[in-house]
Amino acid sequence: MSARGRAHLASLPPGCEGFDPVQLSTLLRRSFAPGEAAALGEQVVLHARATARFGGEAGWLFTAEGLEMMTHPLVAARRAARLAPLGLPVADLTCGIGGDLGACADAGLRTIGVERDPVTALLAASNVPGASVVQGDALRPPLDLAGVAAIIDPSRRGRLARTFDPMAFAPPWDLAVSQVASARAGVLKAPPGIDRRYLPPGAEVEYVQLGRSMREASVWVGAETSPGLRRAVLLSGNATLDSASPEAPAGTAPAGPFVFDPESCVTLAGLVRQLASRLGARLLDERVGYLTGPVAVFDPLCATFATLDVIPFSISRLKERLRNLRWAPAEIRRRAFPIEPDELRRLIGRIEGDAVTLLCTTLNGQKTVIVGRRLVQR
Ligand SMILES: C[S@@+](CC[C@H](N)C(=O)[O-])C[C@H]1O[C@@H](n2cnc3c(N)ncnc32)[C@H](O)[C@@H]1O
Repeated sequence: MSARGRAHLASLPPGCEGFDPVQLSTLLRRSFAPGEAAALGEQVVLHARATARFGGEAGWLFTAEGLEMMTHPLVAARRAARLAPLGLPVADLTCGIGGDLGACADAGLRTIGVERDPVTALLAASNVPGASVVQGDALRPPLDLAGVAAIIDPSRRGRLARTFDPMAFAPPWDLAVSQVASARAGVLKAPPGIDRRYLPPGAEVEYVQLGRSMREASVWVGAETSPGLRRAVLLSGNATLDSASPEAPAGTAPAGPFVFDPESCVTLAGLVRQLASRLGARLLDERVGYLTGPVAVFDPLCATFATLDVIPFSISRLKERLRNLRWAPAEIRRRAFPIEPDELRRLIGRIEGDAVTLLCTTLNGQKTVIVGRRLVQR
């Protein structure tokens, strides 16, 4: 963090992150003491990792664990944009190396960071110079939460591996929830697949997806939240859908001319019927996320396919049909279907022909493969 350390970092030859580790270490040891060489080498490697993950954060210092746990800048920016209109100072009670904290500071908010680990707290202070950062415990923060918006992004890493048990998070999920609930407003970051029984009653939950990747469930409580609302958020497509939207009528329909495959944020948020209503579509089966409709509708929250065939599943029948019609399965998707796509691809073998997508599922108790052609809006 020293001016000397930063000057050394800036003096390294461009592209040195591409060197192999031995080459990099030899280069650094030629000019620096072993401890300094190790520290500089680590920052070079972590900068390259941050750049590959999200384009990097110029001038930031990382730890491997801090980088791993850091909120993606686009997700953090959305959280900050939602907090900004509250006009409250933001206290990030588990600030890590500063991902969320930095986004709040960039949004012009007064920011306070609390972090248990001393080295991580130092890096947060260095990475987000506009914030006040203290080393401390999220459960005993050195401030009155009644006047702030609080963020808690609990650590999900145990000493050995990532944990899926919310009570094993640090801080434990139930204590984190009551802590944020005592603030004027606040948000907790949870894994996207968190069991609904852990969600506090009255919370608003956003299921946030970036590209094809589910990032988190953001659990909002307090001021300016809509209790009980669930929202699907696709950041890359700039699309949202929530549980207050109209639902398609109950009941199912057989596969029609078009089939739709909702994005994960929609299925995790339990909004398949709302999406069906928006598309003018129906469910194929009450227990499956695929939808069908008479018109090719395009929506960032689903993939659209023209239905080519609907095949009651058996390997031999599927292979024969694909070979006869010269359909090459370029993509295999599945919902409520027992065979992994890679295994199914192996069983089918190589087929030359027009690229199609196989949508493998179970409809009315019958394993079924829908052959579709992916349509994209021009
Ligand atoms: C998932 S990381 C936060 C990442 C952060 N949101 C970001 O974007 O960089 C969780 C952090 O909480 C810290 N932590 C865990 N328990 C804590 C506690 N009781 N009080 C304060 N910090 C804590 C961990 O040391 C870790 O740095």
